Amino acid sequence: MLSIRKFAIIPSLLLILTSCSGQEERQQPQYRIESGHDLSILTTTDTHYLAQSLRDFGPAFNQFLAAGDGKQLGYSREMMDALGYDIGIRRPDAVIISGDLTNNGEQASHKDLAKHLQQIEQDTGTRVYVIPGNHDIQNPWARRFDGSRQYTADSVTAEEFRTIYNNFGYSEALLEDGDSLSYLAAPSEDLWLLMLDTAKYGDNKKLGHPQLEGGVSSATLKWIRACGELAAANGAHIVAVMHHSLLDHSEFIQEGFTVDDHGQVIDTLLQSGIRTVFSGHIHIQDISQYQEENGNRIYDIAGSALSVFPHQYGLLKYSSANQTMDYSTAALGMEAWAAATGSTDENLLGFKKYSEANFRKRSATRSYSRLSADPAYAGYSDAELMAMADVVGRLNEIYFAGTARTDNAAVIATEGYRLWQSAPSGGLRSYVLGMTSREVKDNQQLHVELQGP
Ligand SMILES: [Fe+2]
Repeated sequence: MLSIRKFAIIPSLLLILTSCSGQEERQQPQYRIESGHDLSILTTTDTHYLAQSLRDFGPAFNQFLAAGDGKQLGYSREMMDALGYDIGIRRPDAVIISGDLTNNGEQASHKDLAKHLQQIEQDTGTRVYVIPGNHDIQNPWARRFDGSRQYTADSVTAEEFRTIYNNFGYSEALLEDGDSLSYLAAPSEDLWLLMLDTAKYGDNKKLGHPQLEGGVSSATLKWIRACGELAAANGAHIVAVMHHSLLDHSEFIQEGFTVDDHGQVIDTLLQSGIRTVFSGHIHIQDISQYQEENGNRIYDIAGSALSVFPHQYGLLKYSSANQTMDYSTAALGMEAWAAATGSTDENLLGFKKYSEANFRKRSATRSYSRLSADPAYAGYSDAELMAMADVVGRLNEIYFAGTARTDNAAVIATEGYRLWQSAPSGGLRSYVLGMTSREVKDNQQLHVELQGP
């Protein structure tokens, strides 16, 4: 069921809100940013915040970190402080977080993250908009780490999520979907945000793990069309934000990452006038596009996880005069924040180096164990296997960062890569050669024309 809600922003303009029943409701909404003005948005995703109260640095937590995918969970608080520091400098009009706000949906993590977001809004005057990801709601994996043990921690229900993040989108929504935690918000008169909840958490308890796949119900698709009509009637552009990918971003990983029945979702978004989507979930920086026969095009900008190296976010600039949007990535200023706040933690002061080494070493170590246990590689020396494993680590790093265009050449020039070229065929070799022969495109910048196809 479609519900239209009053919202209050700054100068007044008459807006006609049309409900599903066709009735018109006239309100005097006040936009913070009037028509004809530019808008800047900082886009980030997969913050995977873990509350300090839920971890020590004991054996259980360290083991969890080592078995993970490179999230810097021990520095969640510092990362959000650094993000707040960057926002204070860059002063975007809005900030978007496209899901997986927390490590595994811990209630304490949600509450602490909401405090950070409140502080950011207070200190910088920006507006934060969030949606849940597959890790955030009713997650059976919510844990507290203490010494050598893990303990089950409280997670949150969908209602609790909405309450905790009421100030970060929900309280100022133009419309809310009755079938999910999706909502439509208007940070400016010209550019609206369709914040889509694609996570499926209903079966998590039964499954015993958070469901990886995401979807959009037929009721929500109908609601999206109503949002599109409302925006069109008010001359506003819509940017969509969702946790799961709209388009495929990887030849290696697709199942569970691209939203279910994506053809239907693509059609609905295109019919609703949406040309740009921001997603998360896959943790790699990748821009995909789909073009219809009539020339209409939609982009899905998958952002790399803020919590994982290279700890970057996106910056979107909407130009009213040119009717364009320009997207680019920027590195989180962890080192600058650490220096400015007088930190003495060497890891923070040299965070890029620290996190990069950590990330590369983790995947290289895993590849090395795999290679050294494989009889097909018995003829290789230890140094050769290490050089080959390092290539896998470097390629993973490039893959996550979305920098293949600029960084692949250096890897291809290594002795480790040469060894891979003549290595016995198999899983890892296909991965290495596949990674370096992928279509090389720019995943860190995008220019979108809002007029025409
Ligand atoms: Fe994630």
